[in-house]
Amino acid sequence: MINIGILGLGTVGSGIIRIFNENSELIKKRIGDKINVKKVLVRDLHKNRDVEIDKNLLTTNPDDVLQDPEIDIVVEVIGGINPALDFVLKAIENKKHVVTANKEMMAKEGWEILTLARKKGVDVYYEASVAGGIPIIRPMKESLTANKIEEILGIINGTTNYILTKMAKEGKEYEDALREAQNLGYAEADPTSDVEGYDARYKLAILATLAFGTKVNVMDIYTEGITRVTKTDIKYAEELGYAIKLLAIGRQRKDGLELRVHPAFIEKNHPLAQVNDVFNGIFIKGNAIGEIMLYGRGAGQMPTASAVVADIIDIIRNIKAGTVNRVVSEYDDYIPVIDMNS
Ligand code: NDP
Ligand code: HSE
Repeated sequence: MINIGILGLGTVGSGIIRIFNENSELIKKRIGDKINVKKVLVRDLHKNRDVEIDKNLLTTNPDDVLQDPEIDIVVEVIGGINPALDFVLKAIENKKHVVTANKEMMAKEGWEILTLARKKGVDVYYEASVAGGIPIIRPMKESLTANKIEEILGIINGTTNYILTKMAKEGKEYEDALREAQNLGYAEADPTSDVEGYDARYKLAILATLAFGTKVNVMDIYTEGITRVTKTDIKYAEELGYAIKLLAIGRQRKDGLELRVHPAFIEKNHPLAQVNDVFNGIFIKGNAIGEIMLYGRGAGQMPTASAVVADIIDIIRNIKAGTVNRVVSEYDDYIPVIDMNS
């Protein structure tokens, strides 16, 4: 039996429990072992939870997870930097493998986290941190690893894509569409991160680090959100044959990396213009594979939990095989990011 501890039981944490409740037999067959959720850290023990869970598993003491020698894997689904980062570093210090969905933490502190993990001989997996349920971190690290990546073009924030779609297709007001995205569990705890483009910036930093083999400082990425996009802008764009989407762009140029996040006109016959609602789409150009596009649900409880549980299963497979092989912390070179303000 493999014991895991979960930090957080909100949208994603509840989805993880739901998958274990529904698919435990299937997962047991696939990995030949049972996954036991030993403790779940929350802020409020008395909150109503919309998932079936033994209340005795809940704790408000992080050490019940981080210091328990029987827990092998710690799953962080709290979000933000503090206290998530402290908890993750403590878990790694205590030689626990980590799975996280936290894009802000991985974008800003991923280098330190992965370096410590390598030193301690544990795995850190973060598939859910970019594009929810779409496999993108694994393809970047594995299937595309033989390529020189030339370009990434992505719709990688579900909340803003949902808002823009509802404004364009149903004539909804920005505020109403944002409220719906929050109610559906797509938005961050503070939705400023979504609508101002910060969430997409974090995700682009993670992707660019993997794709171009360099450490990326999030503050170097030109970022503009969707708060100034109006229904009139969208209507005129439609009339001219374009859709407005929040795009994350990463390109390898001779003089450095071009990294930017901003609303952009996309020709209606481009596949990215067809990516609507909470769906994300990521176009990647590699010098061997050519162009590929990944598409799917980029936010929401179950798609995100699907990616988290897959990471847990992968780590269990590594534990059984006696390997720790997915930690990437040595980037090739330092490549400057071009100042897109100038
Ligand atoms: P929620 O806000 O729904 O859940 C956060 C959980 O963390 C809550 O259970 C909360 O406890 C707990 N928590 C918060 N602060 C503390 C603290 N100081 N100590 C202990 N527990 C704490 O967030 P989500 O589930 O939506 O997101 C979690 C992570 O997953 C974030 O990093 C997010 O960016 C990422 N993510 C989210 C996606 C989504 O679609 N929602 C998609 C992809 C990634 P309590 O319940 O008691 O308040
Ligand atoms: N708030 C994020 C989004 C969650 O809307 O895309 C998924 O990372």
